[in-house]
Amino acid sequence: MITLGIETSCDDTALALIETKGDGDTFECRVIASLVHSQASLHSPYGGVFPTLAKREHGKNLVPLLEKLLSESELTFSREMSSDELNTIVESFGEDFLNKDKDLFNLVKASEFIRKVPVIDRIAVTEGPGLEPALWVGINFAKVLGKIWSVPVVPVNHMEGHVVASLLKSDVSNGEWQKLSELQVPAIALLISGGHTELIKIQAFGQYELIGQTRDDAVGEAFDKVARLLGLPYPGGPQISKLSLLADEEELISEITLPRPMIGSGDLNFSFSGLKTAVLYAVRELTKDGLELNDHSKKMLALEFEHAVCETLEVKLRNAIDIITAESIIVGGGVSANTRLREMFTRLAEEYGIPLYLPSTHTSGDNALMIALVGAMKSDIEIREMKADGTKRLA
Ligand code: KG4
Ligand code: ZN
Repeated sequence: MITLGIETSCDDTALALIETKGDGDTFECRVIASLVHSQASLHSPYGGVFPTLAKREHGKNLVPLLEKLLSESELTFSREMSSDELNTIVESFGEDFLNKDKDLFNLVKASEFIRKVPVIDRIAVTEGPGLEPALWVGINFAKVLGKIWSVPVVPVNHMEGHVVASLLKSDVSNGEWQKLSELQVPAIALLISGGHTELIKIQAFGQYELIGQTRDDAVGEAFDKVARLLGLPYPGGPQISKLSLLADEEELISEITLPRPMIGSGDLNFSFSGLKTAVLYAVRELTKDGLELNDHSKKMLALEFEHAVCETLEVKLRNAIDIITAESIIVGGGVSANTRLREMFTRLAEEYGIPLYLPSTHTSGDNALMIALVGAMKSDIEIREMKADGTKRLA
């Protein structure tokens, strides 16, 4: 079975094609191609993702990205429809619908390559959680493509995508058939991204229980906001990470102590907005009397901030492992690319003697490979009206 994945929940426009066979224990997959078009540089001046800009960019990027994906994929095609036939199908959606993403659907109507009907079996699209205007572009594109190519469209939860991404052993395009890592349950998943900080108990694929979450900022959001305070561009995570690793190399010892929020709260919830405010006060103190924040101070703050995040996540993850007697750990989301955090997770898993599943660099950030995978793993697909889930939480 061939599945096309579409992901537009935030600032990455992503498409992927995978091939799968079997189900349950016999499920295997092969990555045909996976492309991500990052909008990060466009959002950088705003210090975060600007939803209407993200929506417009997805509308511009989806069609050219799809053309590239198909040209790299050596799919077979069942037939080629005429441009009149294509227009009739697209216009059957009605003016109100098409006007919501005018640029996108004008590009669809003008595309010759879309008239060649590829042999694919499913389209999987992120339904949420995410930025609502951005989600709608992907959902509407999926609906129209589904109708043009007569393929069913499957809604996918973005967070479930991050969970499954960590179970993929190889993300190599046009690669070998592979089985996903076997999940020992109950598993604890820690999802850390720009919009989420969640602890999820996993009893089986599709059986999730949210047992901890942030009360305010997500951990990636804190990285991005702190980076901004230090005068570093968006996305801030990799920038902070780089600085703090430099601080390690120089064996720098922080003269500043930041809080480890909620580590003694006894529950599994997080709060990162106070930590960000503590950095703000530290920056104010260091720049009083008109002083510039120098490189030494930036490295020190980056290092201490990362230590604070790392220790906080470690305490909560330990609590969660103990509470649910976890048999394995899954970490997913953009922040899981962080070197210091990866080292901590590895150490923790070794100490507990349980397997740890971390995503690759390509699959830690947002991508459509994980969306295609979840869509393909659903055994009975539900055809229903989709609604973009603009909430920040796992449904
Ligand atoms: O999962 P993701 O790509 O998008 C969301 O669903 O939010 O995560 C993006 C987040 C951003 O906040 C970014 O700063 C953070 O992941 N990030 C990192 C690193 N790489 C990306 N945070 C810390 N260290 C990194 N190396
Ligand atoms: Zn994400």
